[in-house]
Amino acid sequence: MQFLKMDDFDVRGKTVLVRTDLNSPMDENNEIIDNIRIRRHSETIRELAERGAKVVVMAHQGRAGDSDLIRLDKHAEALSKHVQKNVVYVDDLFGTHAKNSIKKLCDGDIILLENVRFNAEETARKENQHEAHMVRELAPLIDYYVNDAFAAAHRSHVSLVGFPEVVPSFAGRVLQKELEILSKVSKAPERPSVFAAGGSKIDDTMKVVEQMLDADACDKIITSGLVGLVFLVARGEDVGDTTYNTLVKKKADLEIPRAKRLLARYGSRIEMPIDIAICVNGKRIEMPVSTLPTDFPILDIGDRTIRRYTRILEEAATVVCNGPAGMFEKKGFEKGTHELLKAMHECRAFTVLGGGHLALAAEQMNLLDKVAHVSTGGGAYILFMAGERLPAVDALVNSAQKRAPLIVRSKYNNHVNKSE
Ligand code: 3PG
Repeated sequence: MQFLKMDDFDVRGKTVLVRTDLNSPMDENNEIIDNIRIRRHSETIRELAERGAKVVVMAHQGRAGDSDLIRLDKHAEALSKHVQKNVVYVDDLFGTHAKNSIKKLCDGDIILLENVRFNAEETARKENQHEAHMVRELAPLIDYYVNDAFAAAHRSHVSLVGFPEVVPSFAGRVLQKELEILSKVSKAPERPSVFAAGGSKIDDTMKVVEQMLDADACDKIITSGLVGLVFLVARGEDVGDTTYNTLVKKKADLEIPRAKRLLARYGSRIEMPIDIAICVNGKRIEMPVSTLPTDFPILDIGDRTIRRYTRILEEAATVVCNGPAGMFEKKGFEKGTHELLKAMHECRAFTVLGGGHLALAAEQMNLLDKVAHVSTGGGAYILFMAGERLPAVDALVNSAQKRAPLIVRSKYNNHVNKSE
């Protein structure tokens, strides 16, 4: 992918707007929970500050109408801790206070602007995003725009696709690394390659399964979670009314025809649970798939399935995983998710995990730094793996093409000289 990177620019003395994705889970007291997004973006921000840039950070939190659409003062505190430098929170996005704060920055200073989603135009504007008020007000004040927000790259929001139209733009470290690793494992993985397809984002996950099999980028798919149940139903198993109704509620039943097609074409490559764990009066009870149906909810894979999948993982050279094996948040039903994560950590394969829930489970098990790559993305990760284009990445590619003649050598490989 031909976009410019942080090594291509000398940022000393320049005002750099960095779009990050600090969208974070909240605890019961409505406090943000520290997470890999904040930690990873801190490294990009620290590098820009250390290289002498005047750093203006932009981010979103929550969605309109949701209780987690909040100010970013707590995010600034968390960033300060990880950047190890004061990140000043500015409670304005592109008004006089924000603009004056940007103009007053010295080399190495860092500010965090207000939640971009407080501005309705951010998500509402569907075309000519570069003409939005935010871009018109801020673009004249910045030299470069850095997109580091891989986790939001599937959105064509103003702050993600508007600035690259009018300002020299490049990818931050987080975005660059995500695209490099995920491109490699989705297109040219070391073999044998295993995709552990779990979780409940069923339509997107089924697209990834299809894409990986059609592109011959995967030798085995091990299914669990709702994905595993959809394949079991597609094979003709009766999972029972309770579980089937859950599939209908989550619109997972709509994926049964696709699962049937995939089984007909690639049956030997698709592994399904051989036993499952049901919840009986809050307790975990395991049963073989051959004894289905059951009226109790199916919340995890069973021990025999865990052992079978573990053996497949032990043989793999590449493992891509996108969702938990069961309802790991519920006591007693974390076993499948935890055991598969443990197997992924212990196997020799290059392992990539993605999706917020799985990253959380890996964090609970203290495995975050022990697998090769944990993606910061949820929807963006799944869509990218499914071969879909990411509008924010396309915007960077277009920006690089537009500015290609302006690239001249500098002490950092290449340097885009804005004054030319
Ligand atoms: C995410 O959490 O997946 C990203 O921050 C995007 O958030 P969104 O789904 O609210 O656009």
